[in-house]
Amino acid sequence: MKIMLGPRIAVVLSRIDVVTEALVTRQTDFAGRTDICFVNVITDGGKDIANASYGPTWKLHRKIASKALSENTDSESYKTYVVNLDNLMKETEDGFLEDLIPLLHLCPTPRFRRVVGIAERIGEAVRIEIAAHREKFKKDELRDFTDALILAQKEAEEEDDPTLMSQITNTHMVNAISDLVVAGTDTTRNTLHWSLLTMALHPDIQKKVQAEVDSVIDPELNVHVSDRNRLPYTEAVLHEIMRMRTVVPTGIPHSTLCDTTVGGYDVPKGTMVFINHDALHFDPDQWEDVNTFKPERFLDSEGKMGPKPESWLPFSAGRRVCLGETVAKPELHLFLAGILRVFTISLAPGTQHDFEPRSTGAQNTPGKYQIVAKSRS
Ligand code: HEM
Repeated sequence: MKIMLGPRIAVVLSRIDVVTEALVTRQTDFAGRTDICFVNVITDGGKDIANASYGPTWKLHRKIASKALSENTDSESYKTYVVNLDNLMKETEDGFLEDLIPLLHLCPTPRFRRVVGIAERIGEAVRIEIAAHREKFKKDELRDFTDALILAQKEAEEEDDPTLMSQITNTHMVNAISDLVVAGTDTTRNTLHWSLLTMALHPDIQKKVQAEVDSVIDPELNVHVSDRNRLPYTEAVLHEIMRMRTVVPTGIPHSTLCDTTVGGYDVPKGTMVFINHDALHFDPDQWEDVNTFKPERFLDSEGKMGPKPESWLPFSAGRRVCLGETVAKPELHLFLAGILRVFTISLAPGTQHDFEPRSTGAQNTPGKYQIVAKSRS
């Protein structure tokens, strides 16, 4: 469908055939990002990954980040990022008038100014982290994404390649690191929030996960990422949670890079395009008993994970597919299996909570709920 967001035309794709046509068949046509005022301000004009224009600089940073993601480490500054991120999410969830009424850019609202302040605080914490990394940097012992960026910057300087140097400035580094924090933290923890709530609301399903974990994992050992394939029911439960409670229901808006078409309709260059992941996950033509929580739908007749249903797309697809999918899925699986191995989750006595999303913003969240984690030992 076509909608107007203030003066801006946007197209919303809500069926898997048109989403596949846009993201996979015509992938480059739909690989752009759109001009959003507050995003532009907090990313220094898209000098990050998620909001960068499709082109060589975006490609370079995606490549460095994908390679380095598997080595991300703990960092003290992460706590600073997360506190500021909480505030950033609260302040941005209703969107900004500045994006609908362009003239307001000249005199931003107080909330807009607050958001810029929060983004600056995250940026400052990242700058301190980069400086600390530079001091201990060793070319042959890369610790994480920050080290990978420092190396890429040094190599560009050594090669005296001005184009490359202009693609890995300090500003790009700060924004790319902040990006992974922003894109990776809330998505993962909101999925975990939904997972714990689901377990509290479905004790029968929780028992099945516990039975699977108990039967597969040696009681003397911890659960490992490598156990994932041996815990398919747990994996199916996570898939069903991500289907029914898509944490990024309408993704990050795309934009068309040329005049193109989708579903037989013309879409002019520069059109904002939303992928309605939530609609894909509730399409009654694609899912049986669409409103029922049914992890078995992801399993084959032998109880193993079957092929991915086409209309399951929480991480999107194509050129802009989520960079963190390969990290988020095993991480969430490890958390869920690890928690349920040790604890039984239930709602706190005297409290009630349902499965309805509470947030009005860009992310689906369950709101605040109270649980009891009772030791199983
Ligand atoms: C449950 C967890 C997650 C979900 C559901 C999720 C979902 C998404 C979605 C829907 C997009 C938009 C894709 C598009 O534009 O079509 C996206 C983009 C992105 N995600 Fe994730 N994400 C998750 C975790 C992560 C993690 C852990 C990281 C990094 C550590 C990450 C990094 C990114 C980045 C950098 C982009 C922008 C990609 C680009 O524009 O090229 N995400 N994610």
